[in-house]
Amino acid sequence: ISRSYSQLHSQIQRPSFGIAFDIDGVVLLGNTPIGGSSQALKRLYDDCGKLKIPYIFLTNGGGFHESKRASELSELLGVNILPSQVVQGHSPFKQLVKRFENELVIAVGKGEPAAVMSEYGFKNVLSIDEYSSCFDNIDPLAQYKKWSTKQEVDQNSTLKMKNIVYSQRVQAAFVVSDSVDWSRDIQVLCDVLRTGGLPGRETGHQPPLYFANDDLEYQAAFPSERLGMGAFRIALEAIFNRIHPKALEYTSFGKPSPSVFKNAETILSQLVSSLHHHLEAGNHGDAGSHPFKTLYMIGDNPSVDINGARQAGHPWFSILTRTGVFKGKENHAKFPADLVVDTVEEAVDFLLTKEC
Ligand code: G3P
Ligand code: MG
Repeated sequence: ISRSYSQLHSQIQRPSFGIAFDIDGVVLLGNTPIGGSSQALKRLYDDCGKLKIPYIFLTNGGGFHESKRASELSELLGVNILPSQVVQGHSPFKQLVKRFENELVIAVGKGEPAAVMSEYGFKNVLSIDEYSSCFDNIDPLAQYKKWSTKQEVDQNSTLKMKNIVYSQRVQAAFVVSDSVDWSRDIQVLCDVLRTGGLPGRETGHQPPLYFANDDLEYQAAFPSERLGMGAFRIALEAIFNRIHPKALEYTSFGKPSPSVFKNAETILSQLVSSLHHHLEAGNHGDAGSHPFKTLYMIGDNPSVDINGARQAGHPWFSILTRTGVFKGKENHAKFPADLVVDTVEEAVDFLLTKEC
């Protein structure tokens, strides 16, 4: 009797819906909260600041580890965001740790790409900045660049790094976040990929190449969209395919892939389990399997966020905001959302009225 009572009790308490927020163009523009995002998120907590509605951020962006991104978002948005509530384009790279745990891999992109990979468990990772610094003249344009990517490292570490780089082939390249220096990164990636991981040598088998997302464009602080990782991929691919007889092979992660939405559902479900842990003592074995009636994806990019939610199907319900990539009056023609609103605040208002 007590078991069925606790099950009933937890069912009453457990919400039957959850929310996935896109970040760029929905919650933030650059580092500035938009669309009433702060106020909207506050409504998902009780008066004591305890989370009552399960939600996550489901972004294709990245460059910092989930725990760092969570504290940065908490600061910007004024709510307490857990690392488990942050799912980034590169989060699935964790699944590749077993395959490349001790192999030399390089990490590309803004922020701290190598630190992200190390925290995921990759033990032999160098950023493309560190990697490039081991080869004199690898970037003939470096002398004209008004910035430096050289870090202060002692002689011993430099020697150790060079030793690794000259003796070990790069076994995989990970584009963690948007490339900062396209010309250098395209050059060095072409070197790595066409030689089988040893720049300056003869050609070899292309190591695997992974991208955290394939966004052609995304919304940042500038009024019109900015070129994203998908644009960088197209540039790299077009050049590689002209200089190399075999076409570039690569894997892209991130939305709109249905696996991202499956994973988001699992994470939201685990979040519900952790929120309701105290109600479920003795009710083992269902972590991550909480069934949702509806999961709301709130995004600004029709071909990425809305397309992804539509492909994922039940229980996803897509809401398109007008604060980012999409700026239309009516619904998007090719990837129509279940609902179009002006702002994320309006989206949260809609779903809370419907659900509560
Ligand atoms: O670089 C970030 C961008 O490609 C997309 O971010 O939050 O709109 O998925 P988001
Ligand atoms: Mg977006």
